[in-house]
Amino acid sequence: PETKLVDKFGRQVTYVRISVTDRCDFRCVYCMDEEMSFLPRADILSLEEIGLVAQVFSELGVSKIRLTGGEPLIRNNVMSVIEEIGALPTLNELVLTTNGSQLTRFSGGLVSAGVKRINISLDSLKPDRFRQLTRTGSLDTVLSGIDAAIAAGFSKIKLNAVILKGRNDDEIIDLVKFAREKHIDISFIEEMPLGAISSHDRGEAYCSSDEILKTISEIFPLTSTEDSTGGPSKYYAMTDSKTRIGFISPHSHNFCGDCNRVRVTVEGRLLLCLGNEHSVDLKDILRSYPGDTERLKQVIIDAMDLKPERHHFNHDEDPQILRFMNMTGG
Ligand code: GTP
Ligand code: 5AD
Ligand code: SF4
Repeated sequence: PETKLVDKFGRQVTYVRISVTDRCDFRCVYCMDEEMSFLPRADILSLEEIGLVAQVFSELGVSKIRLTGGEPLIRNNVMSVIEEIGALPTLNELVLTTNGSQLTRFSGGLVSAGVKRINISLDSLKPDRFRQLTRTGSLDTVLSGIDAAIAAGFSKIKLNAVILKGRNDDEIIDLVKFAREKHIDISFIEEMPLGAISSHDRGEAYCSSDEILKTISEIFPLTSTEDSTGGPSKYYAMTDSKTRIGFISPHSHNFCGDCNRVRVTVEGRLLLCLGNEHSVDLKDILRSYPGDTERLKQVIIDAMDLKPERHHFNHDEDPQILRFMNMTGG
């Protein structure tokens, strides 16, 4: 069905990213501060509410739902809502973004629930450095998770690497080689200034997609493609491998003109843009008017008018958005 969700700039919203928890078993340096406090249970959507929100969006014409976090797979009983969303008749794609720590346990169930593609964060292949970047993560566990995901038979797996100068920019080629060996895709992401972090200076750590592209091209010639996974990644192909290399470049190649997505935060706030605060409180509607899905739908349709034209991220200034990435799942 055609989407009922169209913004003032004529952009059709067909993709919703739902953050199912703000909690995470990692503390990645670009995403969280060392000391984080998490939301109390009463402030976050219940799994039933998340299921209902997903159903309403799919009935409004959204064809793709991505579950994010925090780490989505550490929410208690998360598989129940994943199965529920996977069974929605009008949804084309249920996908998930994960840090990979729980994939040995969950991969089989995710495939059975109808999750077609997953994106797994992987910023380093060196155990010590992986620990420094994630603060609490274990590389071995994630590598086993990646292998479990490959064995489980997802139709596509993509790695995500946030490249920071002086921290992991010397691993770009190794990460590409790893993706090639595993026959999966990889996207390189320019760090976005969400939340005030203390581990590094975002201006100094900034590594542009063009620099990464140049580094890779010296070893593996890349050709530009028109492929799309419906997200912001711009993909390149190699002649001798099926692995595609994606670039997500919020700073250097703004992609807001093609934006097709909105987010639902863990508190049930419909966030119209990652880089702005324009939002509508869906939790309030859900709890004030239980069962009134028509009202919920109208609130969502009307909210599209609030979608801003673009973000104004600047890696050289203090962050203007104080919300951390784990509230919105990126
Ligand atoms: P697919 O294209 O479906 O594979 O997914 P995706 O790239 O949209 O999702 P993923 O969760 O893997 O996100 C990768 C990176 O893209 C994250 O760092 C997100 O923050 C970023 N991203 C996704 N959507 C947007 C967006 O609308 N604006 C900005 N600035 N970044 C985004
Ligand atoms: N900038 C860019 N990407 C980020 N991610 C988390 N925080 C940031 C940030 N500040 C990435 C994670 C994950 C994806 C959902 O978002 O590495 O791959
Ligand atoms: Fe869309 Fe906002 Fe992301 Fe730009 S920053 S692509 S407008 S959600």
